[in-house]
Amino acid sequence: MTNTLSPVKRVAISTGGGDAPGLNAVIRAVVLSGLKRGWEIYGIRDGFHGLLLPERYPDGGLIRMTRDTVRGITHLGGTILGTSNRNNPMQFLVKMPDGTTQEVDRTDEIVRAFGLHEIDALITVGGDGSLAIANVLMQKGLRVISVPKTIDNDLDKTDVTFGFDTAVAFATEALDRLHTTAASHGRVMVVEVMGRYAGWIALNSGVSGSADVILIPEIPYDINKVIEKIKQRDDTGARFTLVMVAEGAKPKDGHISVVEHESGRAERLGGIGEKVAHEISSFSGKETRVVVLGHLLRGGSPTAFDRLIALRLGAAAIRALEENQSGVMVALDPPQVKYVPIPEAIGKMKFVPVDCDTVQTARDLGISFGD
Ligand code: F6P
Repeated sequence: MTNTLSPVKRVAISTGGGDAPGLNAVIRAVVLSGLKRGWEIYGIRDGFHGLLLPERYPDGGLIRMTRDTVRGITHLGGTILGTSNRNNPMQFLVKMPDGTTQEVDRTDEIVRAFGLHEIDALITVGGDGSLAIANVLMQKGLRVISVPKTIDNDLDKTDVTFGFDTAVAFATEALDRLHTTAASHGRVMVVEVMGRYAGWIALNSGVSGSADVILIPEIPYDINKVIEKIKQRDDTGARFTLVMVAEGAKPKDGHISVVEHESGRAERLGGIGEKVAHEISSFSGKETRVVVLGHLLRGGSPTAFDRLIALRLGAAAIRALEENQSGVMVALDPPQVKYVPIPEAIGKMKFVPVDCDTVQTARDLGISFGD
């Protein structure tokens, strides 16, 4: 979306939602590319908290970014600006004078803060929640560019998201390590990975790390089929089985496993690995252990692949502003980046197509999806 906006002089960047390896690389690319154009770049602390809860930050919720603030951070996990996946500005939890808590839309305050600080544009780096916030801010007149982020790789309209490759590499290494201990003890090892709506991490690491069973949200499983597979392996003398489970996997006619509901944010998933392991040991009698990789998947140093795409997306966000674009998400469309209108990118998940060639490959290799 190009229009006749005045040239950009001051830009703020915010990182929101769950962190992902590569966020710091985006920040560095935005800061260096912006400074190169003579612009001022500011970082908002902890999503939008730096603007909405300034009293929390003795050094200020809005930080002037310099070359020094981004030196040596490309290879670091996390985000130097901090992030938050609670208190979405559209449903901010506010304590009322009567002691009750209410959800309040504070997006107008963000727009006012931009006016107050004379900041011309916002670059927001985040997942589906951040895209929805960006859309509202854009409708309220803010010039916004979004950069997609999630280790789950479930955002549509971009070929891949940064952080995903790092998560898959880590989960694959975990399977490699568990292979030898599972084989030595003749056990079933169940590995639970993140992936609330889409099973990309479980699928790609499960195939790469030679899992025998992969359970993903897109293919509801039947525990009897999982046990059949374990028995088949026992019958052929394999004695051990590796089961990869996405946190959002669910049994046929069953539900996802939720550990916590909290107002104003997505419910917290967890427990499916334990559930599957319990059923396997009860029904098959096999000694079974569970490993939940959880937030280990979000930590650590981004792979070279993730660093490169994060740097490309950050630099492309600045180029978009230079070209007077607004209301777009920078997306990967190999071998190029492209700009997708934010409303088109919102609320569209990228699920694993159940007939994709990776699923077919897995089936050809004898991997069971419990279906
Ligand atoms: O980044 C997405 C994600 O990794 C989901 O797969 C997971 O359910 C969620 O984040 C957990 O986030 P947190 O524990 O930080 O609230």
